[in-house]
Parts: sequence; C-alpha cells; structure tokens
Amino acid sequence: MGEKILEVRDLTKYFEVSNGLFRKKKYVHAVEKVSFDVYKSETLGIVGESGSGKSTLGRVLLKLIKQTSGKVFYNGQDIMQLNSKEFGKIRRELQMVFQDPYASLNPRIKIGDSIAEPLIANCISTNYAEAKKKVYELLDLVGLQPESYERYPYEFSGGQRQRISIARALVLEPKILVCDEAVSALDVSVQAQILNLFNSLKKKLDLTYLFISHDLSVVKHISDRIMVMYLGEIMELATTDQIFSKTYHPYTEALISAIPDPAERGRKKRIILEGDITSPIDPPPGCRFSGRCFKTMEICKYQHPELIEVEPGHFVRCHLYSERKGDC
Ligand SMILES: Nc1ncnc2c1ncn2[C@@H]1O[C@H](COP(=O)(O)OP(=O)(O)OP(=O)(O)O)[C@@H](O)[C@H]1O
Ligand code: SF4
Ligand SMILES: [Mg+2]
Repeated sequence: MGEKILEVRDLTKYFEVSNGLFRKKKYVHAVEKVSFDVYKSETLGIVGESGSGKSTLGRVLLKLIKQTSGKVFYNGQDIMQLNSKEFGKIRRELQMVFQDPYASLNPRIKIGDSIAEPLIANCISTNYAEAKKKVYELLDLVGLQPESYERYPYEFSGGQRQRISIARALVLEPKILVCDEAVSALDVSVQAQILNLFNSLKKKLDLTYLFISHDLSVVKHISDRIMVMYLGEIMELATTDQIFSKTYHPYTEALISAIPDPAERGRKKRIILEGDITSPIDPPPGCRFSGRCFKTMEICKYQHPELIEVEPGHFVRCHLYSERKGDC
C-alpha cells in the first residue's frame, strides 16, 4: 500500500442542537469514532447518502471545524493538537475543492488575481510578476487559456469554474486535496472531463485525494479505495476492486445496485432502501442501518457492530460477519 500520509483515529464530531421547549441539549452525531489510514498518492473515495457525515469528516480533517475528540496524524504528527500558528505551514499542504466554485470566487475579482491571492497572502510570491507567472502556469495545467486571467467568474461555464477552483486549490502546492462533491453540480460529460483532469493532475503533481461524493459511480471511476459511510460511521472500506467483486455490507450492496449498468439491459435488480436515513440526533444503540436493512437480525437492534477486517484490507461493520471473529 505504500507510505501512510494520514492516520485518522477515533475521529468524532458532534454538533450541539437545542431541543425546543425544554431547551435540553442534544447532539447530532455527524462523525462517530472514525478510524482509517490514507496512503500517499492514493485516491480514497468517500461515499454515502446525504447526511452520512462526509463533508463534516472532510472539514474536521482539514481543521476547518474543531473535532469533538480523536486524532489525525499527518506524516506522523497529530495535527489536531496544533494551534492555528503551528498549523499554519501545514494548512497549505491540505486543501479543499468544493461543489460550488461560484460561491468561493469573488465575482468582482479577475480570476487570475483570485488564484494569485493565496500566493501573496502566504508570502510565497514576493512580487506581483512572480505570482502572475505562477498563475499562468496553473491556468495551463488545468486546461484554461491564458486570456482567462483577465476575465471574471460569471464569464465561465460550470466546468471552467471548477477548473479555476482546482487551480486555486493547487496554487500553494498541496500534498492532499479533499474534493467535496467537486463534480456533483456538473453535466455528465463535463464531469468526465473534470475527473480526467483530477487523474492527470494526480500523476503530474503526485497528489493524494480524498474524493467525497454521494454518487458511487463517480467514486468508482476515480478511486483506488472506497470508504462507505452511513450516519457518521464507516460501514465498509476496501479497494475499489474488492468492494465491487465481493460486496459484504448490505448498505454497499444497495448503493451498487443503484448504479445503472447498460450491459445488464434492465436485468439488474435494484435494492430499494425503505425510509429515510435515521436521525443522527442521539442515534439508537444497535446497528445504525438496522431500520432500513433488508438483512436485519434481532441482534442488530441492540448490539452495535464493530468495524472488522474480513479479508486483508477489507473492513466491514455488520453482524453478518462479526461471528467470524467471535465478536458476537
Ligand atoms: N453546523 C452544523 N450544525 C448542526 N448539524 C450539522 C452541522 N453541519 C452538519 N450537520 C449535520 O451533520 C450531519 C452530517 O452532515 P454532512 O454535511 O457532513 O453530511 P454529508 O454526508 O456531507 O451530506 P451531503 O451529501 O448532503 O453533503 C447531518 O445530519 C447534518 O445535518
Ligand atoms: S448489522 Fe444487521 S442491520 Fe446492520 S447492516 Fe448488518 S445485517 Fe444489516
Ligand atoms: Mg456534504
């Protein structure tokens, strides 16, 4: 697998929410005791329905919001313990690409200046000419014309705007990019172009990606490994080949069954999950997926399944397999 660049241990994020009349404190369990490793130069896809905690995980990892508990080691150093001054230098190496590039670009600033701004703010370029040269190189790298420098965000298409935000994320020469629904707002053909761009940048710049999406077909296309999340927990984690050749978790099975496959010509049976994702506020003690699982058993209602390694590198959280390890 290579060298570990991130080691995430029991990472937890709760959001406090007040509860109506009695104002009793309640907590949204957005991310719960999540542990996994990220290897240098890999793409780890993070997939799950809306509300499964993907974005919160990405934001906590980058210290954009504070964790409730847990550790994150970046190149062996626990970054959760660092104050903002100590984290300053490392922050450059961990960047994020968001779903809506329009929201992160100032409409009144030329896009070239927008891309150059972090260079000046972080004192990486000492003069304007040097920053401008770097921006032209980046525009070329992400497939935009040099004339784009002088134009404003509204003059670009959605796909072009996403190229701009990728250039902006790359300007500080990061090591890890967290891409949160980075192609979700784009047409399928444009999605493919941006995914190809991500792939070529990864090779050219030796980047590591955490690629967050609710769409498993997108994640499958780009990822070396896939982590399936449900209600703040990891349900399954394995290489893309492992997940698709031998699916263990019923939730992953349902996600895979929903991917359209033209070769199957309608013969593929889709697993329809009944109901919505369970409330993340004070979730029940058993398996968090038990309310919607088509393989649920009595034990699932009261005993919380642990994440176990069912095959080398293939982790699953489900009582169907925990007996193998004598956990049930
Ligand atoms: N600032 C916040 N305050 C309270 N609850 C929050 C906050 N941010 C997120 N949550 C809750 O945390 C849970 C996880 O949210 P998150 O945005 O991480 O999910 P997601 O998997 O990224 O979903 P989506 O696919 O819709 O982007 C949700 O129940 C959400 O409502
Ligand atoms: S533990 Fe039970 S409810 Fe949860 S996924 Fe496995 S079979 Fe379904
Ligand atoms: Mg999200």
